[in-house]
Amino acid sequence: MEMVEQKIQELLDELDFESVKELFSQLSGGKRLRAKLVLKIAGVNDKSVLLAAIVELIHAASLLHDDVIDEATTRRGKPSINATDGSKIAVMLGDILYSKAYSKLVFFGDEIAKTIADSVTKLSIGEMMDVKMGDEFNADDKRYLDMLYLKTAALIEACAKASAMLCGKNPHSYALYGKNLGLSFQIIDDILDITSDEKTLGKPAMNDFREGKTTLPYIYLYNSLPNDEKNRLKSLHKKDLSKEEIMWIKEKMKDYRSVEKSYEYAKKLSEEAKKSILDDELHKILDNLLQRSF
Ligand code: FPP
Ligand code: MG
Repeated sequence: MEMVEQKIQELLDELDFESVKELFSQLSGGKRLRAKLVLKIAGVNDKSVLLAAIVELIHAASLLHDDVIDEATTRRGKPSINATDGSKIAVMLGDILYSKAYSKLVFFGDEIAKTIADSVTKLSIGEMMDVKMGDEFNADDKRYLDMLYLKTAALIEACAKASAMLCGKNPHSYALYGKNLGLSFQIIDDILDITSDEKTLGKPAMNDFREGKTTLPYIYLYNSLPNDEKNRLKSLHKKDLSKEEIMWIKEKMKDYRSVEKSYEYAKKLSEEAKKSILDDELHKILDNLLQRSF
């Protein structure tokens, strides 16, 4: 992973524009899940390290844009770039990072380049679906999971598939592993937004519902509640919630096991992922993911 960090710095150096390096250093690197996945699957060599750096730049760019879109003031426990330097800088920094990533992607064969590029189109479409779904209360779990696949799982799926292509492994099995890992990862993220606190998360807790996102636990809850309580839940959507309202939601989620049901679904996806690849290290990533607290 040190080599990946070095490669990212090299790519930033090539830009020959000090402001970008400065701004990038303000970002917290995060878990680097995508890069780790690339190295685990493809091994450590010049090409895999470059691919890992490319996908991390794309991911960083997407989060910069996402924070502008969501008007988020924190990211991974630090103020977001849009909060410190304004939305214009955040959007442009994102543009620079992902266009730089793309200009390096051309050094890989057509298939690998297309796999990654197609996934970025998917994540952009997923982001638009997410924003549009936030306009109303979405109670359809299938619609939610389709969006989640595009917004989060597609890039992870592409990382796994491209890495397999890079080292002659079966791209389909690895793609399936990546897809289910990505979906499971995002569902756990949605659960933690409800069960964890601001300090652990590095962003405000119970933020998804406030932003208009009816994630899986809210969808399960809504579909279990009697009609009058359905209306109460709907009326709280996209609002700044009081302590009592938060407590009401959490109690109802407990009564109807909404968080547990979401967790069980994430676990089921993780089991599916395990079935596609027999590799202890890749299974361990899934186990850690299900146990994580941030
Ligand atoms: C986080 O979702 C957002 C994403 C995973 C994808 C965002 C994608 C784009 C903005 C498309 C543009 C792409 C590029 C490469 C510039 P979230 O808001 O649910 O999660 P959060 O709580 O971490 O913010
Ligand atoms: Mg966001």
